Amino acid sequence: MDVLRIRGGRALRGEISVGGAKNACLPLLAATLLTGEPCVLRNVPDLSDSRFMLEILRRQGAEIESAGPNAWRVAARNIQPKTPYELVRKMRASVCVMGALVGRLKRAEIPLPGGCVIGQRPIDLHVKGLKKLGCSIENRGGVMRIDASRSRGNYIFLGGRYGSTVTGTANILMAAALTPGLTRIDSAACEPEVQDLCRMLVKMGAKISGIGSPTLEIEGAEKLRGCEHSVIPDRIEAGTLLLCGAITRGDVTVRGAIAGHLGAFLDKMDEAGIPFETPAPDAIRVRGDAAGDFRPIDIVTLPHPGFPTDLQAQFTALLSLVPGISIITERIYPNRYMHVPELLRMGADIAIEGPSAIIKGVPALSGAPVMASDLRASAALVLAGLAAEGETWVQRIYHLDRGYEKFEASLSKLGADVVRLKDTDMPKEYLDE
Ligand code: EPU
Repeated sequence: MDVLRIRGGRALRGEISVGGAKNACLPLLAATLLTGEPCVLRNVPDLSDSRFMLEILRRQGAEIESAGPNAWRVAARNIQPKTPYELVRKMRASVCVMGALVGRLKRAEIPLPGGCVIGQRPIDLHVKGLKKLGCSIENRGGVMRIDASRSRGNYIFLGGRYGSTVTGTANILMAAALTPGLTRIDSAACEPEVQDLCRMLVKMGAKISGIGSPTLEIEGAEKLRGCEHSVIPDRIEAGTLLLCGAITRGDVTVRGAIAGHLGAFLDKMDEAGIPFETPAPDAIRVRGDAAGDFRPIDIVTLPHPGFPTDLQAQFTALLSLVPGISIITERIYPNRYMHVPELLRMGADIAIEGPSAIIKGVPALSGAPVMASDLRASAALVLAGLAAEGETWVQRIYHLDRGYEKFEASLSKLGADVVRLKDTDMPKEYLDE
């Protein structure tokens, strides 16, 4: 298995570009199933999750070919309604094909995805939305059989106890785009990734109003057409790289970082005393080298435009080195703290109290072998490793590869001492018996 070896203590400097957003590209790829005409998607990040979604589309019957670097042409002329469990099990986001299959074929057979390491992650709201559209849904042997032959547009309140749902909104949007009548979704997710899906659906001929707001109206069309679309830049990758610049006291300009997508995150950088500027509409420069001590802050994760849960672990790593007490509260995934025990191994002082992490800043972290448990936790460990004294070995980085394209190459370009090695290259005392 691959591991990252990071020798910490180098200030990162220079300019780097982010790729297309993983969480936009997965539903966008699913949306190609809504039409028999070819769709071309550009700026698709080369991640294990995108490759996996392409494999699912192939298994649904779509023909897929490369359309150049980071671009794919998908022609879903004849598709079938069953999605195999072995695929859904490996990637939760495969549930995004459900809305597209329901819209296009009026039926779908899709296994329930189950939980994952960051929380329970039910799909009750997706199911509620489809039922409101008139779908009948039967659950047998862990597989949902959905019949949408009598579906009609309807009013759907899609909020749950943790607020809106991102992939749930995507699923209902895709289903409603080909469901006769008017559908109105209240408490829809407003994330830039959902907006990107709306924009692609509009190019395909869907009639959607309220894009970017919590109320979306969709007038069902009879058919959708092919289109070309470019995936928006990854705001989470951008935020992660900005924090890499900050934690190493460097000077990093991130191209493809759109300030409008990162409002709450930048507000917290500001509050923490991390200087940044926006030299262009799609670039943010962080000046970690131009500040004194950073300040401790409180963060609450919330649906967009609130602070994104997908940047919580990374900010926790940074705050673990900020003098004073910071408090993070998770309102999306109350147990998303798998990175904390590993940060403790590196010398951080963090206590978990219910959905909150109480962080007492320490003067330094020390490099250690650590284990990645999920995608954003891996990024947090990399951040900690960049700032730590000595060597950090991050294991199970296949989690990192799900969401960051060649992350170690980006970091090396900025001057980090980070290499991808095999676990057998680790010092003997770190290896399992
Ligand atoms: N929820 C329900 N019922 C539902 C759906 C969601 O109770 O039917 C709850 C969830 O358990 C969670 C909250 O609502 O507490 C929000 O979940 P949401 O449905 O919005 O999450 P998701 O669509 O499954 C996407 C991203 C996640 C990101 C979340 C929140 C994709 C493919 N995944 O997941 O990304 O954390 O939105 O912003 O878009 C990541 O990239 O690391 C990642 C986990």
